[in-house]
Amino acid sequence: MHGGSVDNPVDDIFCLQLAIVNIVWVSARARRKWYYLELRGSNVCISRILPHICLSIMNPTMYSPAPSSSGSSTHHSIPSTPGTDLGTFFDDGQYQPNSDEYILVTGGLGFIGSHTSLELLKSSYNIIIVDDFSNSFDDVLSKIRTLANRHFDEHDGNCPKLEFHNANYQDELFMRTLFEAHRAPRFRGQEKKSDITGVIHFAAFKAVKESIREPLKYYQNNVGGLIKLLTLLDEYDIKSFIFSSSAVVYGSLAEKDEHLIEEHVVHQDEVFQDMDGKIRHSKPGCKGITNPYGRTKFFGEAILADLAKSDPSWNIVGLRYFNPIGCDRSGLIGEDPRGTPSNLLPVIVKVITGQYDELAIYGGDWNTPDGTAIRDFIHVTDLARGHLAALAAAGDGRIPGGYRTYNLGAGAGYSVLNVVAAMEAVIQRDIPRRIVAKREGDVQSSIASAIRAKCELGWETKESLEQACRDVWNSLVVNGVHAIWIVCWESRLMRMSGKCHM
Ligand SMILES: NC(=O)c1ccc[n+]([C@@H]2O[C@H](COP(=O)([O-])OP(=O)(O)OC[C@H]3O[C@@H](n4cnc5c(N)ncnc54)[C@H](O)[C@@H]3O)[C@@H](O)[C@H]2O)c1
Repeated sequence: MHGGSVDNPVDDIFCLQLAIVNIVWVSARARRKWYYLELRGSNVCISRILPHICLSIMNPTMYSPAPSSSGSSTHHSIPSTPGTDLGTFFDDGQYQPNSDEYILVTGGLGFIGSHTSLELLKSSYNIIIVDDFSNSFDDVLSKIRTLANRHFDEHDGNCPKLEFHNANYQDELFMRTLFEAHRAPRFRGQEKKSDITGVIHFAAFKAVKESIREPLKYYQNNVGGLIKLLTLLDEYDIKSFIFSSSAVVYGSLAEKDEHLIEEHVVHQDEVFQDMDGKIRHSKPGCKGITNPYGRTKFFGEAILADLAKSDPSWNIVGLRYFNPIGCDRSGLIGEDPRGTPSNLLPVIVKVITGQYDELAIYGGDWNTPDGTAIRDFIHVTDLARGHLAALAAAGDGRIPGGYRTYNLGAGAGYSVLNVVAAMEAVIQRDIPRRIVAKREGDVQSSIASAIRAKCELGWETKESLEQACRDVWNSLVVNGVHAIWIVCWESRLMRMSGKCHM
């Protein structure tokens, strides 16, 4: 399997076109599942089945939910068989190998990935998630499935397929086996080599401070891994690619206090007309990116732009996210990182659930109306939908030059104190906060121009800051955390009034 190419000679050994073996999945009423080999005399090729069997051996979690929250990042963690109640790949006996097309989602259980996976399923895409749990938890998978099933129950439809692999996307042997399992059958005379028609690549490390301490870890996962993945995709002719980039690529340009336009940071010479109708020239490069994480995103974009230039059959979109907040309206999935959160709303949640005493606000003397920094906060569900718009454009070959960047932001700025006030209005309590020193590398203001995404992708935000805050509060209610909050809040008040010494 390892090292096999699309025209793998292994096929010629195993692929007896008139044979033979087909795997049939049976689902009994009690939802127990098993499989058996059936001689059918069909022309299904055994080499199409072998990778699935290999995958089941290499990655048992494909067939069952992932391990508990303490699960390791290797993909050998659950000794399971397809014959358990916990089937995912072959869920409900609906699995029909290669009967449809798939979108591969790396890092699909993380904050943005989980919301995008859900939106993809709701829009009837079959998806394959590859995630190694390095910054996510196993329960997210079942929650995505629950929400997708709920959606299709309400809309009288069939939920598309969700295939999951607990694996590191940098594991070439594993990824090759996955792509082999998804090769488009040659006997259908199709030109396509894979039933995976697009990739959304979220998997990356994203903690700025950690990237300064451990730059190689970041360059390896975010840049080295990207190159390996692209090399394999090229080989398997999967050439629609959506990349998670970031507003950090604008570096110190954000200090200019104006809406950031994509033409500010480019990877090839570009001529464009600005808002005043003047013709401008952009030279490739970036200015003032202050940390290794930010540089991994810039390098990632540059690699993709070079690739698209060298081979016009690629359709690549770099999505520059601004500041995602909020969570799915259901409250079931949200932002749940393994380490210390650094984004604003998760920290606010820690304060309102009593895990932190107060919110540290970095800098109160920025040149802004209330002195706190301004960001373009975008609801994560809006962000997720932006990926569907990008995927559709890439799939239709509507990407000018084969590579294009788009800002995903609301196009409006809110200060940190605006967000605190919006959350306070939802929870009807004050949130303790303290102004502390500015963080190195922070910028005063970062606001997207969202025009290009609107004009070319037909995408714009729909959700508000207030809605994002309501959704986060709802997730605390749904998960019972608000009860802890009330206890903490009361004990804090009692402590302050001297009635309690907790
Ligand atoms: N959240 C933000 O504020 C933000 C802003 C701009 C850009 N981004 C980018 O968006 C992407 C997703 O961000 P997020 O906030 O959802 O992050 P996240 O950490 O919540 O999600 C990333 C997911 O990828 C997985 N992962 C990481 N490395 C992996 C590997 N080698 N193999 C398999 N899985 C791996 C993690 O387990 C996690 O589930 C990242 O590329 C990030 O850099 C995020």
